[in-house]
Amino acid sequence: MTETAAGQPKSKSGLRDWSCVKVEIADGIAWVTMNRPDKRNCMNPTMNDEMIEVLDAIELEDSVGVLVLTGAGDSWSAGMDLKEFFRDLDKLPYAQQMRGRRSAWQWQWRMLMNYAKPTIAMVNGWCFGGAFTPLVACDLAIAAEDAQFGLSEINWGIIPGGNVTRAVVATMNLRDAMYYVTTGETFDGRKAAQMGLVNEAVPLDKLKERTTALAKTLLGKNPTVLRAAKTAVRHVQGMAWELSDDYLMAKNHQSRLLDPEQGRSQGMKQFLDEKTFKPGLAAYQRDA
Ligand code: COA
Repeated sequence: MTETAAGQPKSKSGLRDWSCVKVEIADGIAWVTMNRPDKRNCMNPTMNDEMIEVLDAIELEDSVGVLVLTGAGDSWSAGMDLKEFFRDLDKLPYAQQMRGRRSAWQWQWRMLMNYAKPTIAMVNGWCFGGAFTPLVACDLAIAAEDAQFGLSEINWGIIPGGNVTRAVVATMNLRDAMYYVTTGETFDGRKAAQMGLVNEAVPLDKLKERTTALAKTLLGKNPTVLRAAKTAVRHVQGMAWELSDDYLMAKNHQSRLLDPEQGRSQGMKQFLDEKTFKPGLAAYQRDA
């Protein structure tokens, strides 16, 4: 396991120690932890700036195939920091306010949604407001059954901005989104899974085990094709059928050209000629 040492660049990609984010790398998985447990991991400008650096560094880290985003202590994240992100930023000149806001959306959806490696949100506890944006921007999400979620903005007098409303309607149906945005009621991990906000909910003591198993499944796939596949899932949503058919064909051609391990040929050879695997049941043998 690589744990970053204080202030010390650890690798060519520049992994080091951060004050609000913890990074551990083990067996191809980068565990990225929002690390302000005494503040329920609410996101302040420092965390936002650091998260941009962390995501940048991990994207270039050859030993990492999957990124997991989680929270320290009993919270995933209590959303934006009401003091440092709202009250304190409000007092600054407009350009500085915009700089502070930009660093939030930069990592919370721009970087995560377009990330070169698959990402999993591992929701261990409280998940409120602004935290819905990185939650939805991660490719997959597993929650603890008892984790509590809430679109709490209405409770303190704002609407869910920071693209939270956009994230919610991209995953939940309109009735559910409207209900939770307007009532601010909390719901648990089971309900989040039922509504499609997360992929599944498991007991807290099984959360890391299940997340690790899912990450290992992803690590077993061809990374070039996986990247093309997740990008395509995001982009076809807004396309007409004719356009998406053409786009997907082009994307397939692109990944064949870029794929150093020529997975498509490998897969066909191992199934049709060598009869060593069944594509319906598992991935082809990558190091054959
Ligand atoms: N912004 C700023 N500070 C926050 C915060 C946030 N979003 N969430 C928690 N904190 C701080 C609290 O002010 C408190 O600080 P203090 O110890 O200096 O008093 C500390 O974190 C612990 O919070 P506390 O409320 O005592 O913890 P709890 O376990 O009893 O409750 C929550 C947890 C998440 C239910 C509660 O903290 C909460 O409602 N937070 C705000 C959630 C929210 O509306 N987020 C949306 C923002 S867009």
